Formats: sequence, C-alpha cells, structure tokens
Amino acid sequence: MRQAFQLVAAVVILGCGSASAPTPTLNTETLSLEAVAWTSVPWSTPISFVHETSSGVALCTSESLVLIAGGVVANRTSEGKACESGARVPASEGTGQWDIVVAGGSILRLGDDGTTEAVSERYGLEAKKVTRVVSIDADQFAFQYDTGFAIVNKGEARQFAQAGLTSIAAANGKFGYLTNDAARVLDTKTNGLSAYPVADAKGISFDASNRLVVTTAAAIYREDGDSLVPLADGQTYLSAPASAGGKVWIIEGAELILLEDDHVFKTSGLALSAGATIFGSSTGDVWLSRPSGVARLRHGASGNALEQKWQTDVQPIYASVCSACHGPTGSAQIDLSNYNSWVSRKAALNDRIVVKGDMPPKGVTLSAEDRAKLSAFIGSTP
Ligand code: HEC
Repeated sequence: MRQAFQLVAAVVILGCGSASAPTPTLNTETLSLEAVAWTSVPWSTPISFVHETSSGVALCTSESLVLIAGGVVANRTSEGKACESGARVPASEGTGQWDIVVAGGSILRLGDDGTTEAVSERYGLEAKKVTRVVSIDADQFAFQYDTGFAIVNKGEARQFAQAGLTSIAAANGKFGYLTNDAARVLDTKTNGLSAYPVADAKGISFDASNRLVVTTAAAIYREDGDSLVPLADGQTYLSAPASAGGKVWIIEGAELILLEDDHVFKTSGLALSAGATIFGSSTGDVWLSRPSGVARLRHGASGNALEQKWQTDVQPIYASVCSACHGPTGSAQIDLSNYNSWVSRKAALNDRIVVKGDMPPKGVTLSAEDRAKLSAFIGSTP
C-alpha cells in the first residue's frame, strides 16, 4: 500500500503515553432529559441508525430507509435498509454538502427527497465493505471499511490499510481511529499522529475542545496532554460514545451519561432497556432507540422530571398499544402522542385507564404491568 506508507512516513509521533491507573469514582451532576418532538407519525420500530439531513430525518430499520420531513414520511426505500452510519460531508462534485449513509457495505448518497444513489465507485471503494463515515472538516471526510480507512480530501480518496481497525471518529480537522490496542489521532492540519495505548476500547469520540474520548466496558478516558486520563472507572457497563456536536453521550448500564465541557452529567432512574442504543445529533441532542421505539432527547436546562417519566414509562406503551388509534391524525381523533396531551387529558385518562379500565378497547391488549405504569404516571400528573 503505497499511500499507507506515505502517511506513516509523513507523520510525526507526538504522544505515546499510556492510560493511567483508573480512579474509582465519577463526579457526576444530575442529568435531566427533555423529549424533543421530531415526528407526528407514531414511530415504534427500533432503528439501526438515524441521520439528520437538510430536509428531514433519515431513519433506518431492518426493512427500509425512511425520510421523515415536516413530521411525515416523505420517502421509504429498501436501498439503505439497516444503515449503520451517516454524515453530512463536503460535496464531491460542485459545492455544498452531501448526505451520505453507509448500508450493507455500500456508500449511498441520500437525496433531499429521500431517494438514494450508490456512490462507492466514486471513492474507489466498491470492492470494500464500508461500515462508517465521519466528517473531518469543510474539505475532508473519512470512511471505515473492513481492511482500513479512506480519507477523502476535496473529492479525492486515499486509502490506508489498517489491521484490527474497530472504529473511527472525527472533529474539526482531527481524525481518530481505534484498533484493539490503541486509539490514534491524526491532526490533518499538521499531519501529527498521536497514539494512546488502550485495550479493548468500545469506541472513540471528540468533545467540544477536540479532546479524544475513549470508553471501555468499565471506564471513560479523556485526552489530557499526551495521555488518556480516566474520568470514570467501575461503571456498570459502558457503550461506545456517541458524538453530538461537541457533546458526548454514553450509555452506562440503564442510565445515560453526558460529557459537556468539563461537566459529567448522569441520569438517575432512567431504566433504559437492555437493547437500547444511542446516536448523537449534531444539535447536541441524543437519539435513543429501544425495542419499543425511538425518542429524541435533550439535556433539559429546567429538567421536568414528570416529562422524563412520560418519556421513559409512558411513551413506549403509547407507541406499542395506543398509537394505532391515538396519533395526531388517528382514528380516535384524540391525540395522545405527547406529554402535554397526557397532562391536559388527565381526567379522561384517569376515568378510562384507571377507573373503568375500558381503554384500550376490546381486542387490544394492555398488560397489567403496563396499565400499572400508566396509572402511576396519571396519578402523579398535577
Ligand atoms: C383500536 C383503537 C384504540 C386504541 C388501540 C386505543 N384507543 Fe383510546 N379511544 C379510541 C376511540 C375510538 C375513542 C373515542 C371513543 C371513546 O371514548 O370510547 C377513544 C377514547 C379514549 C379516551 C377518552 C378521551 C376523552 O377525551 O374522552 C382515552 C383517555 C383513551 N382513549 C386512552 C387510550 C389509551 C391510553 C390507549 C392505549 C393504552 C388507548 N386509548 C388505545 C380508540 C382506541
């Protein structure tokens, strides 16, 4: 690989400090979440990835890629189903930006109307199994594939073979890549390469100060000078970090952690289900996909605990049991798709769910456990 050799020859090894001994505690502040409205279509299918485009939100399920624009389904295509990654990247033709998603090993350009065009060939990657795309800066972006990565600069792709590559990340001119034994950061402006030995990392990300963040199953590390310093150790079970416009979201067991500037926020009692996954939004929000459906959440300044409870306890039940009839344009003509609608209909909900128990109607099942959850929420509504 001639080009790989060129990269190695050009870079200067800057840092090679190792991850220092973990400290036992994590100083966290309470994280309160607010649900962000993103669709008027009831959405209860788990997703493999979500990518925000200029025209809407593209979600991938195991069956299709769906573009939701203006709150409604604008397009649905099986091309791009089960997509794994996506990014807004500098256009490889003309000016502006392209929305790119990666699905089934191929690179797809996503049009404003939600249709897709296969573009692997444009980057010379048609024979590779591409798994991830990240945006580096206004000129550059990168792909991860089975045997290495490619950095695209002004439409020109250069491939670098890399054994044992597990993940890539990028921000503000920095490109990070992870192997089984180290995380490396290439500063694309200076060509300086820093290496941070860390074993069994789950993923990497960059924070708002361009510091590398690395998680393992039990610890969060952040770049400090030329070493990785543990922010937290002894956590229950940590996910890969999700980059969200300078913020970093991480699942810890059944809770969510948010790294924001020098603060570490953590939810209390969120009770995420085991199958939950997260995707960062460039707005700083986080997308949460659970077996019961998808929510977009924001770090709430005021932190309405009851709304958080609605999001975690009620929304999944609404999505699976009530949404068929109680969507914004549903047959019952009673919209129960959001928190406010539940608060304003407290009396009717109490009557039909708690007292009479005649909702949902015969033929639709609501388990006793779920009815108890709804009752508890209705009972705590002012
Ligand atoms: C199969 C369709 C269907 C499903 C599923 C369903 N509903 Fe209904 N619901 C209706 C219809 C139709 C009405 C209006 C007629 C009535 O009041 O019985 C209604 C009325 C209501 C009302 C009375 C609203 C008011 O302002 O008087 C409440 C409260 C309610 N539903 C809650 C729920 C909840 C909560 C769920 C899910 C756990 C649910 N429903 C599931 C069809 C449904």
